[in-house]
Amino acid sequence: MRLRSVVKLYKRWYIIILVCLPFAAFLHISFGQERKIDNMFLELDKKYRLPEQWSVLPFELEDPYKRVKNGPPLVNVIYKAKVEWLSRWIANPKKVVANAKMPNLGLDFDEIKAVIVFLSSIAENDVPQVTWDEFLLKKEDDLSEDEYDKMDKVYNAGKGVWGRARCTICHPIKGVGGNVGVGPDLGEITTKINRNWLHSWLGDTKSHFPDTMMAQYRFTDQDVRWLVEFIMRDTQFVPEEKDDEISSAESDVKILTEKEFSGLRKDAALIEKGKDVVEKARCFVCHDIKGISELMPVVERKRDGLAGFEKLLYEIRCLTCHRIQDKGGTYAPNLTFAGSKIKMNWENEFLLSPDIIRPLSQQMPKFNLNENEAKTATEYIEKNLLIKESLPDIFKDAPPTTEIIAAGEKLFYEKGCNTCHAENITKGGGVVGPNLATVGDRLQSAYILYHLKNPQRANPQGVEPNFGLSDEELKQLVGFLMDHVKKKEGK
Ligand code: HEC
Ligand code: HEC
Ligand code: HEC
Ligand code: HEC
Repeated sequence: MRLRSVVKLYKRWYIIILVCLPFAAFLHISFGQERKIDNMFLELDKKYRLPEQWSVLPFELEDPYKRVKNGPPLVNVIYKAKVEWLSRWIANPKKVVANAKMPNLGLDFDEIKAVIVFLSSIAENDVPQVTWDEFLLKKEDDLSEDEYDKMDKVYNAGKGVWGRARCTICHPIKGVGGNVGVGPDLGEITTKINRNWLHSWLGDTKSHFPDTMMAQYRFTDQDVRWLVEFIMRDTQFVPEEKDDEISSAESDVKILTEKEFSGLRKDAALIEKGKDVVEKARCFVCHDIKGISELMPVVERKRDGLAGFEKLLYEIRCLTCHRIQDKGGTYAPNLTFAGSKIKMNWENEFLLSPDIIRPLSQQMPKFNLNENEAKTATEYIEKNLLIKESLPDIFKDAPPTTEIIAAGEKLFYEKGCNTCHAENITKGGGVVGPNLATVGDRLQSAYILYHLKNPQRANPQGVEPNFGLSDEELKQLVGFLMDHVKKKEGK
């Protein structure tokens, strides 16, 4: 009898799981505001795109989402973050940064104190000291008029760098933005960060966190200085003033001050206690912490001597946003077949200076790649990221005639393509799909045909309907679209 009821239960679980799974997936898709990729999605994606269609790549792609430790190494955190901030963070991360991933570990004040003192004891090297113009270290009220003007110039230059870099594609600011779904909210970053550390991070992220998902921009030292000034001064990075009521409730939470900390930092017994807390709280599951032994050996990825596109993928972290085969994010266009899709010249230009293609989604940031890097990426993509079958190019031998183009134009409006796409700057059009005004420069004619035959083939989730176009209609539409080049737009 026991055995049977176990079997029954087993069966029931099976049914419950079967019924709930799609429902859970539905909930997640419709209400999930953050664009984190769900594992289930990745699995689905894999099934849709049979791996045997993919080309074999010259090196194994690294998926930034599958890093061993999700938190940053803690070795030098004492030089990065202010003591008061660390104290509030360890007490309750989500109260400090709205989208924090670290859980509340329920430590009491004495334990937190000990942990911070321990973290300070393992620090190796202070961040490189930067020489700043004297006036840049002053508070706004203490600046003379002349100094204020000079500071303001630096600040405004930084604002420009910030805008072009589109940092907010990954980082929300006080809950707004961050659609990629990976960066911490920077809305109160001035309460945390050390100015020299910020300079060092923006210039070389990987030396602080080798597995970081953040892109390494090709900034000059000048760019970085400007950007640091903007971040350290602009009000969007400063907490909003809170109501008296809330702040008095918060002031009940005990916070370790810089002053109290400096009296404790050499206390050997406290350091030992901190180490013990860190071991018991299993901080090492998510962080690399010097002096704390691991339960299981950690296999680190070897990255010495990376070259070519592999190096670029690692440094720019293209796969935090893009997907290639079954690796990476889903925020930006999937690049698995980009070599069969995109024209080489356009791609090279785009990588040097990204332009807006899809009006609704965010633009690709400007990483300041140099000519060589753009060429490396373009050549790799054209050679390796291909659709297996060879696609017919119906206009290879003769460009489309004016009759074909005219018929295509008529069809474009008859079929209602313009409800989602603009094909002409002055005529306007929908913004759901990419702007097609210069699509002839951007996409290969064979790919447009492949896409129009069945829009769901390259993108199973794509919203473009399958119009079931005849060969004649396809030819006309492709001809019409191939005729959309920059020259004609008079740009
Ligand atoms: C379940 C994973 C997890 C555990 C366990 C965990 N952390 Fe974290 N921690 C994170 C993540 C992820 C971050 C990065 C910020 C965020 O949450 O988005 C972080 C950030 C931090 C930071 C700020 C680091 C920086 O560079 O800004 C400190 C300090 C920290 N953790 C300390 C601890 C300590 C001490 C423990 C153990 C008592 C601990 N963490 C346990 C996941 C974890
Ligand atoms: C591709 C996404 C991405 C872009 C673009 C990006 N970041 Fe980040 N950034 C991250 C992630 C993710 C982290 C946290 C480290 C990690 O988990 O890898 C981070 C960390 C940071 C931190 C440290 C914050 C903390 O509390 O520890 C700062 C400051 C920062 N980024 C500033 C910037 C600035 C300024 C820009 C634009 C020039 C920028 N980021 C662009 C993803 C990004
Ligand atoms: C912070 C996120 C992010 C990172 C990192 C990133 N991209 Fe992009 N990329 C985008 C977005 C968003 C678009 C879509 C732009 C648009 O439609 O206006 C895009 C578009 C592209 C396109 C055009 C694709 C198409 O189908 O139209 C190519 C090619 C491309 N990126 C290559 C790269 C390469 C190579 C890297 C790394 C060197 C990289 N990207 C890094 C966000 C990113
Ligand atoms: C319901 C909206 C909708 C309609 C109607 C529609 N499209 Fe699209 N189209 C899209 C979307 C969305 C994409 C994919 C964008 C992406 O991959 O980021 C797309 C992609 C494309 C592309 C490939 C562009 C690229 O960069 O990936 C072409 C070419 C295209 N459509 C042409 C057409 C033509 C021609 C018609 C009419 C026969 C049409 N579309 C009708 C929404 C639409």
